[in-house]
Amino acid sequence: MYETPFHTDDISGSTFLITGGAGFVGSNIVAYLMKYGAGKVCVLDNLCEGKIQNIEPFLNEPNFEFINGDISNAETCKQACAGVDYISHQAALGSVPRSLETPLLTNEANVTGFLNMLTAAKDAKVKRFVYASSSSVYGDSLKLPKVEEHIGDPLSPYAASKFVNEVYAGVYALNYGIEVVGLRYFNIFGPNQKPDGPYAAVIPLFMDALLKGKSPFINGDGEQSRDFTFVENAVQANIRAMFSQVPGAAGKVYNIAFGERTTINQLYFTLKEIVGSNIDPTYREARKGDVRDSLADISKARAYLGYDPKVSIRDGLDITIKWFAEHYGNQVTQ
Ligand SMILES: NC(=O)c1ccc[n+]([C@@H]2O[C@H](COP(=O)([O-])OP(=O)(O)OC[C@H]3O[C@@H](n4cnc5c(N)ncnc54)[C@H](O)[C@@H]3O)[C@@H](O)[C@H]2O)c1
Repeated sequence: MYETPFHTDDISGSTFLITGGAGFVGSNIVAYLMKYGAGKVCVLDNLCEGKIQNIEPFLNEPNFEFINGDISNAETCKQACAGVDYISHQAALGSVPRSLETPLLTNEANVTGFLNMLTAAKDAKVKRFVYASSSSVYGDSLKLPKVEEHIGDPLSPYAASKFVNEVYAGVYALNYGIEVVGLRYFNIFGPNQKPDGPYAAVIPLFMDALLKGKSPFINGDGEQSRDFTFVENAVQANIRAMFSQVPGAAGKVYNIAFGERTTINQLYFTLKEIVGSNIDPTYREARKGDVRDSLADISKARAYLGYDPKVSIRDGLDITIKWFAEHYGNQVTQ
């Protein structure tokens, strides 16, 4: 992965802070920065969802630091931001169902934690603060493709928390001049994404079931669609968002997706074919808070960030299933 760099700037003298860097997307950003010789890479993560194994290869590197801390603590954020040039803020509690069960916990990490980080970043005068938002902010809007300027009402506490992030980022940019870039991710998948735990995402759940020879659940009729995006494309977006010098690039939010719509049924049958399985899925009731269809217009990210997703869904699935087989099983046939 990451065979070609997404940056042209010299990063050997810069310090990067990746919050949530032991998690799925964050650890992939860390791997990219370490591969390309970043001056210093710091990870701030409380390991509530992330895994130390995701950053294990870097723990003894002289340009790497791991801070085991919580973003809901303002002082921790302040210390982590000292001397940092660029921040990629990934730490948050993901999952719509979790936010419906424990909204206060989601708020503490996703809103209080976000504001602590944004404030610490402003005070430390970082060059740019890039943060993970979510396609969930489109809420009840049925318009397709999703265009950044047209959102609906949020459908869950998780969606509300990400929307609040965008509002605060705008307010801080306006009042304090901090350069912020929001990235609305659409269903990211790839290596380091967890298949375990009650809030696992659909692709790792399917892969886990297929590798174990079990029938996975599909919520509803499976004809709901998503814009599945390989994690390397999301890493590209983060790197380009840190460095884009296109006038007006900072201070905006961008859709980060591949720009293609896949139904859950199509996804499952593709994975089934890759693995060479003959197991059929088990259909069950549709889930509360889920949107029916999702597809992103990514032209704004292309124009302002130079974002150009290179890895197709199919290629991403091939890479991911190999990674899953190595880490969680050995039943992949190719
Ligand atoms: N994966 C997706 O498809 C997707 C889609 C939309 C948005 N996002 C957003 O992207 C970001 C990264 O998501 P991910 O899929 O890598 O999730 P993840 O759970 O793998 O990573 C999040 C990381 O943040 C850490 N964390 C959580 N709360 C923390 C706290 N209070 N203090 C310190 N660390 C904390 C976790 O331990 C974890 O390592 C999140 O903000 C998520 O909401 C992800």
